[in-house]
Amino acid sequence: MTTDRIDDTDRSFLFVLGSSRPEGNTEILARAAAEQLPAGIPQRWVDLAKHPLPDFQDGRHEDGTWPVSEQEEELRRLTLEATDIVIASPLYWYAVSANTKRYLDYWSGWLGVPALDFKKRMSGRTLWGVTVMAEEEEDTADGMIASLNNTAAYLRMRFGGVLLGNGSRPGQVRGDERALTRAKTFFEREAPLARFPSEEETGER
Ligand SMILES: Cc1cc2nc3c(=O)[nH]c(=O)nc-3n(C[C@H](O)[C@H](O)[C@H](O)COP(=O)(O)O)c2cc1C
Repeated sequence: MTTDRIDDTDRSFLFVLGSSRPEGNTEILARAAAEQLPAGIPQRWVDLAKHPLPDFQDGRHEDGTWPVSEQEEELRRLTLEATDIVIASPLYWYAVSANTKRYLDYWSGWLGVPALDFKKRMSGRTLWGVTVMAEEEEDTADGMIASLNNTAAYLRMRFGGVLLGNGSRPGQVRGDERALTRAKTFFEREAPLARFPSEEETGER
């Protein structure tokens, strides 16, 4: 049932920033967590606002091929090269931001390209989340956490959970000591193979 844990020496992290403003709280928190990664583990950072993807068009069931934009090709390459993908999105309306959602929608397009073997190649890799939100009640992020967990489960990925922080104005998360403490050990967490809630109940895969 399990896929072998990827050895640390083979690991590389892709941080996907999904905020609509530069140097926001989510990036600050993601960088605080990333600082703790061993120096030998490569990190790549991509800011979706600086490299915007065109709106996703669902051509999965159409004949022929769709033109692939430069941004899409670059993101696809970065995604497939990483063993660990960190979705660093602010909480927008209790979910990931539109930029982030669009990036994930492209995953569906990539799933539909047989030559890419996307599902097979993503299986066993690890999905993580980082989010900052204005509200104090952390359970209002449950929808976002469930969405990322289910995305990982669909792709047979591991899921390391979501690092939560609190803040509204840019930089405010620096005052959230609990979040900064959690950031120090976030990537040391066990990241088990993700399961859909129904599998949790029955223990089945
Ligand atoms: C479009 C939008 C929607 C938001 N929705 C929520 C929300 O549902 N819950 C919440 O706690 N904060 C919400 N916020 C506040 C942001 O999560 C908060 O300002 C956060 O610090 C932004 O992160 P950033 O600095 O990385 O962009 C929203 C902000 C915007 C702009």
